Amino acid sequence: MLPYGRQTITEDDIAAVVAVLRSDYLTQGPVVAEFERRFAARVGARHAVAVNSATAALHLALRVAGVGAGHRVLTTPNTFLASANAAAYVGATPDFADIDPVTRTLCPGAVEAAWSDDVRAVVAVDYAGQPADLPALSRMARSRGAVLVDDASHAVGGAFYHEGKSWSLGGNPWADFTVFSFHPVKTLTTGEGGMLVTDREDWADAARCLRSHGMVRDPARFSPVDAGDPLAERGPWFYEMQELGWNYRITDLQCALGLSQLERLDAALARRRAIVAAYDAALADLRWLRGPRLRNPEDAGLASWHLYTVEIDFPAIRQSRTEVMARLRAAGVGSQVLYIPVHLQPWYRRTYGYGPGKCPVAEALYGRALSLPLYPALTDADVSRVIAAVRSLAMP
Ligand SMILES: Cc1ncc(COP(=O)(O)O)c(C=O)c1O
Repeated sequence: MLPYGRQTITEDDIAAVVAVLRSDYLTQGPVVAEFERRFAARVGARHAVAVNSATAALHLALRVAGVGAGHRVLTTPNTFLASANAAAYVGATPDFADIDPVTRTLCPGAVEAAWSDDVRAVVAVDYAGQPADLPALSRMARSRGAVLVDDASHAVGGAFYHEGKSWSLGGNPWADFTVFSFHPVKTLTTGEGGMLVTDREDWADAARCLRSHGMVRDPARFSPVDAGDPLAERGPWFYEMQELGWNYRITDLQCALGLSQLERLDAALARRRAIVAAYDAALADLRWLRGPRLRNPEDAGLASWHLYTVEIDFPAIRQSRTEVMARLRAAGVGSQVLYIPVHLQPWYRRTYGYGPGKCPVAEALYGRALSLPLYPALTDADVSRVIAAVRSLAMP
């Protein structure tokens, strides 16, 4: 069975992790810092803070930007739960604006319509690897005192053209923060893991402190103390908790895997693009199916595809999605539905009163979406098997 996504692990990856197992540090040693340095260089960001998930990175981004109680955060319903939940973690209200039907990413016009004075952040998602319209969203957010968080969990290594120049996700002037996920189905994995990148040093420092309990060990940062205070002696053991933080630390083991995967990222992305091009060409004539479409077709050579999500007109082929998935499975082809619109989840309905009709484009997409296998280890024969299985769906 071909799953919809899966990691690729090489002997080099295994050797890199084993080398850490034989070293002095399993966590917070030199490999975390090296992964941060190399990742920042790869995406073109000034600072990268590695954490144990993209969820943690999203939480830290909103926290260090000062988003909290009384604020609203606008995001897309066409995402995994984490993009919206982060707003609730900091005590703000997560809210949703609809998506663009072509790119399936946050629609700037819908964000404009949903704007209210209490919005302090926009969390855009580069769904499936398609960059959100960062320049338009940034213009809107910055002119109104809000930050733009680009949730690029799907798009490690991705880039896009804007006004004739290519810009990488994480290395562009529009996103205040960019967040990446290294979960196994993503384009680079550390098992579990995430990265927060930003060009602002104060935000990066604050995120580093908060990822480890809000603790500082640098004497230059200790708070002043009276001579008679029980904490007056500050020897080599001393640390201070200056903020309420979390344990969002990633391990050296994970970062060794990440560094090794980073070496192959370009090759992995090239293979993903080739598979997407093969699917696009082979499925283009099907009137009951529509593949992903880039905002700018020139971006095809820069995209970091994580998912190949098609929209299927199920009534036209007289089958439900459940039946289609079963037929694909019988042909050895796995598929998945990504995503259930977040505002329709019971917790969101119960807590904020959201419900059907709030984001009709995302809700309609949900009714038609199906993600097909996409990962670099798919062989050409696998790709042909997927294409044949999909093409045969319209046959009785
Ligand atoms: C768009 C998006 N954001 C955030 C996350 C959360 O990532 P993580 O599992 O690394 O916390 C995911 C995970 O699937 C995701 O798809």
